[in-house]
Amino acid sequence: MSRGTDPASRVEALLAAMSLAEKIGQLTMVRPEFAAGSADTITDSQKAGIRAGQIGSMLDIWGAGPTRAAQTVAVNESQAKIPLLFCYDVLHGYETVFPVPLGEAAAFDPDLWERTARAAAEEAAAGGVALTFAPMLDVARDPRWGRIVESFGEDAWLGRRFAEAKVRGFQGESPADAGAVAATAKHLGAYGAVTAGREYASVDVSERALHEVHLPPFRAAVEAGAAAIMPAFNDLNGVPMTGNAEVLRGIVRARWAFDGVMISDFGAVGELMVHGVAGDLAEAAALALGAGVDIDMASDAYPKGLPEALARGLVTEAQIDEAVRRVLVLKERLGLLDAPFARGGAALSEEKRQAHRALAREAACRSMVLLRDRDGLLPLQGEARHLAIIGPLADAGAEMLGPWSAAGKADDTVGYLAGLRAALPGWTISHSEGARREGGTAALLDDALDLVRAADLTLLCIGETPELCGEAGSRAEPGLPDWQRPLTEAVLGAGKPVIVALTCGRPLIAPWLFEQAGTVLAAWFPGSEAGNALADVLTGRLSPSGKLPVSWPRAVGQIPIFFGQSATGRPADPAERLTSRYLDVASAPLFPFGHGLSYARFEYRDLRVTPAVARPGDGITVEVDIANSGAREGRETAFLFIRDPVASVARPVLELRGAAGITLAPGEAGSLRFSLKPDDLAFSTGEGTSRLEPGRFEILAGPSADRASLLQASIELRMS
Ligand code: NOJ
Repeated sequence: MSRGTDPASRVEALLAAMSLAEKIGQLTMVRPEFAAGSADTITDSQKAGIRAGQIGSMLDIWGAGPTRAAQTVAVNESQAKIPLLFCYDVLHGYETVFPVPLGEAAAFDPDLWERTARAAAEEAAAGGVALTFAPMLDVARDPRWGRIVESFGEDAWLGRRFAEAKVRGFQGESPADAGAVAATAKHLGAYGAVTAGREYASVDVSERALHEVHLPPFRAAVEAGAAAIMPAFNDLNGVPMTGNAEVLRGIVRARWAFDGVMISDFGAVGELMVHGVAGDLAEAAALALGAGVDIDMASDAYPKGLPEALARGLVTEAQIDEAVRRVLVLKERLGLLDAPFARGGAALSEEKRQAHRALAREAACRSMVLLRDRDGLLPLQGEARHLAIIGPLADAGAEMLGPWSAAGKADDTVGYLAGLRAALPGWTISHSEGARREGGTAALLDDALDLVRAADLTLLCIGETPELCGEAGSRAEPGLPDWQRPLTEAVLGAGKPVIVALTCGRPLIAPWLFEQAGTVLAAWFPGSEAGNALADVLTGRLSPSGKLPVSWPRAVGQIPIFFGQSATGRPADPAERLTSRYLDVASAPLFPFGHGLSYARFEYRDLRVTPAVARPGDGITVEVDIANSGAREGRETAFLFIRDPVASVARPVLELRGAAGITLAPGEAGSLRFSLKPDDLAFSTGEGTSRLEPGRFEILAGPSADRASLLQASIELRMS
């Protein structure tokens, strides 16, 4: 391989020397087939495939040993000697597992999001991984959909910030750095809007919702330099995304100028036949390639269908070359052509690993959302008291890691019990599991209740386990699993103080629980440092500062529920029947977007917007004062919303335009400043086009999307 030549000529030289079979090989991604009894040596037949140039990339292979062994075959024994691209789902950590994205989003801190992605990239790269299938950028407004756990929540503005931070974190200064991995923005597009929250179902969304809500986070990822994009499994208004040329080529490649690699989702090219838009593998391959999908992940469509498609004239060799070129450019950008073994080389230093654990603890602390503390049980007060830690998730390991735990290990995870024991050395801490999914719980329950009665205080650790969410984790009743209800009701009914720690990958809809529980903390899936982080929050070492990145519904029937709904002609009025509301449940969520309590007490004052009259091109400054009138230090995230009360189309009742954090000591006051441009007041009229209409705009700031909690000012926009 010639060093020193410019990347483009180098890629052309490689391409010119390849046979058709080798080209198709570069477009083929497979899973490893390990030899019997081995966890890291691939089979002879798969080695033969690599040697013959039939495999260009692999997924779900990680660790220095396995990746090095497979790479050796590609680099030393294949004719073209092109290194393999190793890919893995590193969503929220590799060996050190950070909180799941929905939890991390609750920190509302792009700097934190970037640092955790950086740490995950360094660890994954040390494990031989060169590309991660992350960040997941689907706007998620339906807690029935299990993949809400992988997302940043319900808002597109938030999604853009999340996308930029994650791409920066994964890819670093340059994807060629040994500690960087290529980022894949997935799953494009509108996957979060699957019908009725049912996994892999159809999506039917308006043009407005597509361009204003679902696509912007992907565009932000492209603008941040994301190396790859993965189209979603779903169809969008009838056209499966894997073959959706209008979006993938027309918007992503042509308008956004995305020149990176498009990787299908697992088996999705072949599934074009099941969608009913392709009659056989050749047609499926032609549709996907025609739409701009470069790599076929784990379906037979490219290896088996493309030669046939070429023979039938459904594709041209020039189209195949175009895709191969992009794959080779990615390998070049990643530094693979020069240093195929750089990743998976040196292990990370112990110092680095410790730093990642500290970061995992910080991120987990900052992700936890104190939903309610009616009885003022927190932070834990007093010396040497008796705390009963009860519940099936009290002493759990793997369950803390969430549905994409990569190389994370259960026995490397600090569970809640261990974390609290370490943090409260003088206390008596008793523990009982209380309930088990497999049943047989009468004795367990009695044991737990004995402890609850004997203790001063109980920490009840209940919630979801990872297999209840994530991919194919849709639930029609996304509440607390039924088998945990008897324990929960018995503990809450014992007449003693109880703190509920909810481990979950979605807002859990359990009206009965919220009627009975006075103190509830959403811990999400906190990751490797779960117990230490929970202890930090409960003991008050850090005041809770997480805020909900999604509305938390009262009832399943409210779904989809989000703060940015368009204004209706008949807004909800409980006193008026003929208004937009339910007869049996309030319209508002149980906890609004942005909700989250602190041990500090924040008061918002004096919202200022300058200038009072703005014109296109002007900068707009919004400032708000925040004072901590409580007795403890805390960090507050403040939100900036706008509302366009009169426009040519009905606009959302609130639109997020900013989120910023401030840490204040007791008695301290400070101010937060947001910058807006008149463009932030515009609305989308299609892909890449927007309209700015003159008039008065409401500017609102405060602690959450509950309108009653917001300070309000206004600005006049004039066009000249
Ligand atoms: C299917 C999932 O939809 C996708 O998110 C993931 O990256 C691939 N499988 C590979 O594991």
